[in-house]
Amino acid sequence: MTAPVRTTETLVRVALGERAYDIAIGRGLLDSLGARIRALKPGAKVAVITDETVARHYLDSTLTALAALDIGAVPVVVAPGEASKCFATLERVCDALLAAKIERGDVVVALGGGVVGDLAGFAAAVVRRGIDYVQVPTTLLSQVDSSVGGKTAIDSHHGKNLIGAFYQPILVVADTALLDTLSPREFRAGYAEVAKYGLLGDAGFFEWLEANWRDVFAGGAAREHAIAVSCRMKAEIVARDERESGDRALLNLGHTFGHALEAGAGFSDRLLHGEAIAIGMSLAFGFSARQQMIAPAEAERAKRHISAAGLPTRMSEVQGGVPGLDALMGLIAQDKKVKRGRLTFVLVRAIGQAFVAHDVDASEVRAFLAEQLQ
Ligand SMILES: NC(=O)c1ccc[n+]([C@@H]2O[C@H](COP(=O)([O-])OP(=O)(O)OC[C@H]3O[C@@H](n4cnc5c(N)ncnc54)[C@H](O)[C@@H]3O)[C@@H](O)[C@H]2O)c1
Ligand SMILES: [Zn+2]
Repeated sequence: MTAPVRTTETLVRVALGERAYDIAIGRGLLDSLGARIRALKPGAKVAVITDETVARHYLDSTLTALAALDIGAVPVVVAPGEASKCFATLERVCDALLAAKIERGDVVVALGGGVVGDLAGFAAAVVRRGIDYVQVPTTLLSQVDSSVGGKTAIDSHHGKNLIGAFYQPILVVADTALLDTLSPREFRAGYAEVAKYGLLGDAGFFEWLEANWRDVFAGGAAREHAIAVSCRMKAEIVARDERESGDRALLNLGHTFGHALEAGAGFSDRLLHGEAIAIGMSLAFGFSARQQMIAPAEAERAKRHISAAGLPTRMSEVQGGVPGLDALMGLIAQDKKVKRGRLTFVLVRAIGQAFVAHDVDASEVRAFLAEQLQ
């Protein structure tokens, strides 16, 4: 494989005081990984944590990029998939870091999608009470969402992401060329989170996506622009509210409904996270319209774009069906605290104007879902 030609590079700063860091976005940036790590951590050794699929595509080029700067690197490869976000794999990764004598001054590189990023980030947070780490996200979802903001975690049998830490990386390198090998379905699922940024906080970006989404899928400058705008918005929100006591919750647009559907599908391939969020956002817009918070035509416009990009917007599109009304309401109640029949939801006043509603009547949600399930 020939190295992709390096074009432009966009830098987005995550302004978190002494924990501030850059997100570098551009085609072909993987080649520069060694130089970037050398500049931040002269003399550091590196452990590269990745999964088998990503290793097949990009481990050699990553090791080459590091070796070019004489940076010694140890690979740690885990199985692909959500099941790797577990205690057993965490233990194996931590052991491998210690066996490789990775010290406090060294660097962990998370090379992969959100699974590797969450797992490697958590391992970096706990081994020797904290080793600096660099995110090299390889899925669209991880480039626009999970690699930024410092949420790291593994799953518990009590639920997803319940054991983890807020631990910021020292750098994110998003090489948009790495997305060329992603399956179309995974790319589309990640696109749901890109559309989310427009829908929750930037009507101009949403309008741009309506006109340019095909170019985002095709690659090139439009893809980089979409990723940069997404990262900029996430970076701003995280800088305002690192630990999600307020505004960061806006990033959960579509996620309360979406998580319920994902849980209903057993977090299986029947419904990828981004697909669940696509339906979840459509439901959030539909529910906001039903509550007369947003014009119905505006809600329809949001759904039209999600659907145009090849994503599902209705529960009937979930392979194998969705749980019944009672089960869905139970899953929603589990996801968000219900206090005296009141739910917290991210709702919308317009495209680009989401807000956190703390006082949503659960019976209204139930009535809405009953209509949607017919
Ligand atoms: N920390 C956060 O803030 C945050 C936010 C959103 C999601 N997440 C987490 O992210 C995870 C989902 O991440 P994901 O969607 O990236 O899934 P993933 O990491 O499982 O990757 C999806 C699949 O694509 C493969 N893959 C990755 N990069 C590839 C490439 N360039 N070419 C070919 N195949 C490639 C992987 O091996 C895997 O099989 C979930 O565990 C979720 O909880 C975390
Ligand atoms: Zn999400």
